[in-house]
Amino acid sequence: MKVDFYRHPLKPEDAQRIAAVLATPFLTTGQVARGVEQQLRDYFDVPHACLVNSWTNGALAVLLAMELRPGDEVIVPAMTFIASANVVELAGGTVVFADVDPHTLLMQPEAVAKLVTPRTRAVMPVHIYGQLCDIEAMRAVVDMHPQRSGPILFIEDAAHCFEGEFQGHKPGRFGDVAIFSFYATKNVTCGEGGAIIARDDALFGRILEARLHGMSAIAVDRFSAGRYNHWDMNRLGTKANLPDVLAALLPPQIETIDARLPERQRLCARYRAAFAGGPLRLVGQLQSTKSAEHIFTIGVPNGARDQAIAALNANGINVTVNFRSVTHTSYYRKRYPAAAVQCPVSETWGEQTLTLPMFPGLTEEEQDHVIRVVRDEVYKLAKAA
Ligand SMILES: Cc1ncc(COP(=O)(O)O)c(C=O)c1O
Repeated sequence: MKVDFYRHPLKPEDAQRIAAVLATPFLTTGQVARGVEQQLRDYFDVPHACLVNSWTNGALAVLLAMELRPGDEVIVPAMTFIASANVVELAGGTVVFADVDPHTLLMQPEAVAKLVTPRTRAVMPVHIYGQLCDIEAMRAVVDMHPQRSGPILFIEDAAHCFEGEFQGHKPGRFGDVAIFSFYATKNVTCGEGGAIIARDDALFGRILEARLHGMSAIAVDRFSAGRYNHWDMNRLGTKANLPDVLAALLPPQIETIDARLPERQRLCARYRAAFAGGPLRLVGQLQSTKSAEHIFTIGVPNGARDQAIAALNANGINVTVNFRSVTHTSYYRKRYPAAAVQCPVSETWGEQTLTLPMFPGLTEEEQDHVIRVVRDEVYKLAKAA
């Protein structure tokens, strides 16, 4: 049996939403994007939201808006997708890698506290796999830190966590900004895309400019009221706005995101029950967290991960790796040679981890096949290796 890693939830009816945009003269960021941004402000109860064409470009816009100077440091967990660190490098900053908790794989306040220096300008906690970091606790530790020399921005990497909550709070409640991804496999998707939410008016104004070359007006405003309006450039920016053609796919998904979570919870609970007491490492679930259950990731101990991938693939099951430690990649090993040694939890998990198929629409038959292959073949590998 063949089991896809992921199947998106979009339907043929969604094509009509794109067709409606094609029927207007305006394909890029316009009224449709504005409608989605209002949905985001309402959903997250924040004053500001803007759509971007990927998490990566959105994060780059945020860091450009901060005007990082060479030597400015941003604390990033080693257990994340490379993009979280790459944007810091692209914006001219220095990445300071934090290790993560071995149980939840989340960055912890104590780990961050050890890394704050007078050069720290930002912290980027990652809500990995769908559970939220405790931003409020992290922020309390950082704000009182004796080494701190100025304001330290909290940029939440919420690529895995749209609908999750920590003690009843959604992403962006305690951070300065939260950035989402609408990449093909994400819980809300338009193929490529993302969003930034923020609370501070001045910071958000700078982010809006940095999102669009540094220009003071987006295209729809340059041609408003029936005439051309001049714009200025106050800062260096990137090109990160999301066109209406893609934004049109988002409204129904945002409307139904909470109603779709129980299916993810049910599928993850089935996996957790099936693998309880076995030889695999499972990600610890926090009581205080409602996980967005973005992906279901397991650890295969004793160096057997790649054999496990081969066994799953041989049985028609597609899997991925989320993630090898960022500190393990050739680029970061060369650039920050000490980081791998300082992040042993991330390095170890990065050598063990693989992600199983899990998405609303995965059939019981498909999931049973995955469970059977894991229990029959991966368990043997994990014990024998
Ligand atoms: C934790 C994390 N951060 C950032 C990104 C980058 O998102 P995007 O592909 O929208 O740039 C991803 C992508 O999968 C991710 O998993």
